[in-house]
Amino acid sequence: MGVQESYPIDVEGIRADFPILDRNVGGNVETPGEGPEDDTPLYYLDNAATSHTPNQVVDTITDYYRNYNANVHRGIHQLSQEASVAYEEAHDTVADFIGADGREEIVFTKNTTEAENLIAYAWGLAELGPGDAVVLTEMEHHASLVTWQQIAKRTGAEVRFIRVDEEGYLDMDHAADLIDDDVEMVSVVHVSNTLGTVNPVSELADMAHDHDSLIFVDGAQSAPTRPVDVAAMDTDFFAFSAHKMCGPTGIGALYGKEEILESMQPYLYGGDMIRRVTFDDSTWEDLPWKFEAGTPSISEGIAFAAAVDYMEDIGMEAVQAHEELLAEYAYDRLTEFDDVTVYGPPGDDRGGLVAFNVEGVHAHDLSSIVNDYGVAIRAGDHCTQPLHDKLGAAASARGSFYIYNTREEIDALVDAVNEARELFG
Ligand code: ALA
Repeated sequence: MGVQESYPIDVEGIRADFPILDRNVGGNVETPGEGPEDDTPLYYLDNAATSHTPNQVVDTITDYYRNYNANVHRGIHQLSQEASVAYEEAHDTVADFIGADGREEIVFTKNTTEAENLIAYAWGLAELGPGDAVVLTEMEHHASLVTWQQIAKRTGAEVRFIRVDEEGYLDMDHAADLIDDDVEMVSVVHVSNTLGTVNPVSELADMAHDHDSLIFVDGAQSAPTRPVDVAAMDTDFFAFSAHKMCGPTGIGALYGKEEILESMQPYLYGGDMIRRVTFDDSTWEDLPWKFEAGTPSISEGIAFAAAVDYMEDIGMEAVQAHEELLAEYAYDRLTEFDDVTVYGPPGDDRGGLVAFNVEGVHAHDLSSIVNDYGVAIRAGDHCTQPLHDKLGAAASARGSFYIYNTREEIDALVDAVNEARELFG
């Protein structure tokens, strides 16, 4: 693909690191709705679900298995030492990436969802009870919403939801009303995976702390797409996944302030998180290993650090500028159609995604038709069912953009959406 126009980042050079982007899709299908025709170019616009993996990250995984595959923290032999050092240093790299003080504050988890569950189980079950409240937003992903909803049911705590206004922003007056002295945890999404809203998390952290509450920020869509500084944000917890930022699946990070993680009991028990065990009792390893029971995802953890290096070489400020440029372009192009509704804030004030519906076309049909043209988007509720209920939509289609995407690919999406409009009259 020729990249003619200028971008804040070297899109053409970046694309060369991702061979998957050069593949074609399709089979021998000519009927709309049954898949692309032979050799249709791929336009991958489903990056909020998962991003692709550059050669540098794939090579890191291959290098690990080819050259120093061994279990960590369990052997004196050289391979185990090499693997242990690389795995431990990966925590340092991730800590630096988000402004944490050091590896003590970075627990590797399977993904953002597991990080949410870790805090909800290890902290929530111990700390919450009747009379306490947890404050969420109406735009929470199920990973946060369902987790706190269920922990609240088990502990007798109340769950409150900060309203989302007509434009897709949080109603901050409502937040101020809801966050009172009964609140023990405020759990908010940083960038909404459905609306693209960028939430004022520092302001929410101040509100939470003014009432002696903790705050958890879900960074699944923010850490991959913009600079994050957990110290400046003053959040107590922050979580994100590697696979949305050029890393592998199966690995993510939970950041927690050291003194809070120190005060918590483990979430999982087993090997590697133990200092001393007797038949009567056990003591725990230092942070972060206290929260990483069992053989961890070693190659994935090391490759997570390689993904961080890859993103930092591009520069997160430039990544954010590219995301914003594409989001605004997509917003402007899709809103040219009177029968298209784009959800969330204006095009010049959002993260790099657009969820939308075309009047009279179900989002699943829309996704299927654009797939005929090689365009990969997500359709469904994006794990935000209550938000979709509020929007009055059972589902929506969503295009989401990343460092290798171009305006031409968004044009391909818009052309395919137009075909769907015409097909459905
Ligand atoms: N939470 C991811 C998404 O929004 C999977 O698509």
